[in-house]
Amino acid sequence: MKRLLVTGGCGFIGSNFVRYFLKSRPDWGVLNLDKLSYSGNLANLSDLKSSSRYEFVRGDIADKKLVLKLMKKVSAVAHFAAETHVDRSIEAADDFLKTNILGTAALLEVSLACGIKRFVHMSTDEVYGSIAKGHVDETAPLLPNSPYSASKAGADLLVRSFQETYGHPAMIMRCTNNFGPYQFPEKVIPLFVTNLLEGKTVPLYGNGKNRRDWIYVEDACRGLLLVLEKGKAGEIYNMGAHHEMNNLELTGSILRALKKDRKMIRYVPDRLGHDLRYAVNFNKLKRLGFRPAWSFSEGLAATVKWYKENPDWWKPLKRDQYTVKS
Ligand SMILES: NC(=O)c1ccc[n+]([C@@H]2O[C@H](COP(=O)([O-])OP(=O)(O)OC[C@H]3O[C@@H](n4cnc5c(N)ncnc54)[C@H](O)[C@@H]3O)[C@@H](O)[C@H]2O)c1
Repeated sequence: MKRLLVTGGCGFIGSNFVRYFLKSRPDWGVLNLDKLSYSGNLANLSDLKSSSRYEFVRGDIADKKLVLKLMKKVSAVAHFAAETHVDRSIEAADDFLKTNILGTAALLEVSLACGIKRFVHMSTDEVYGSIAKGHVDETAPLLPNSPYSASKAGADLLVRSFQETYGHPAMIMRCTNNFGPYQFPEKVIPLFVTNLLEGKTVPLYGNGKNRRDWIYVEDACRGLLLVLEKGKAGEIYNMGAHHEMNNLELTGSILRALKKDRKMIRYVPDRLGHDLRYAVNFNKLKRLGFRPAWSFSEGLAATVKWYKENPDWWKPLKRDQYTVKS
């Protein structure tokens, strides 16, 4: 059986991807390497515990010896592992640099030595910085504004350097904001949904005018698998969903979905260096055959339903994370 190495498979997108991949590709297995940082959770894949096609290894992507042992067992890599929360990167950037840059460098080095031919690095639209007008394609300059996006841009540039220097076939996926089940309740949608389920207010940054394009996580998994299988070696692919809205509009949709009124909004001082707008042109991915299948409202309804039905998953996470703003 062929095997895919997934890094960060116990996180939000990684766990959704592992489940989606195993369902879509019955002749493949998954080896999941995850450090189980605060956002990694074994419960995200507890349904796969007894599957013969799934193996979990706890460890750090920056541990080259371990990565070499695992890389010898697989024929492709989907790299999600990262420190991902912008607010945490503003408080302290060290872990972001270690995992996102040095960790990615270790994976590149070892995968090159092992002759891995299919490797997708999951990156973000945030590397382009704030986009005043229009939509940027993959040739736009990298102008990251937060320590998080700078660390992801650093990783992207390392991938590029491995392509140019050694002909490493790694591909980069630059994706817009994801939402859906199993997202750690510090990120805006699960934070707001779970706060409202607990009867608490929702903290909205600044004037709520910051704009993002929201993609339902299953669509992001479909896009990533498409690139993993059909993407051209060494290329960069943007991914989005054409669901651009500002945070006030997003909050309004969440309030309506939970039948709450606007009095539940609590305005809080803006995030430092908060990018006003991200907007990518993903025509290149469309040419590969990508079409998002979920409308924003369908995705939000599915997400709200999942958080309503799974308080046992999120309540302990909110209790443990005193840094979660509520
Ligand atoms: N969530 C989004 O909206 C979004 C959008 C675009 C791109 N991305 C990118 O997608 C990827 C996944 O994001 P997510 O939202 O699922 O993040 P997440 O924080 O939910 O999950 C990250 C996972 O990586 C693991 N991890 C962290 N450091 C590690 C290390 N050194 N070694 C091994 N494992 C480690 C964590 O334990 C966790 O399971 C990241 O690379 C992120 O930058 C996310």
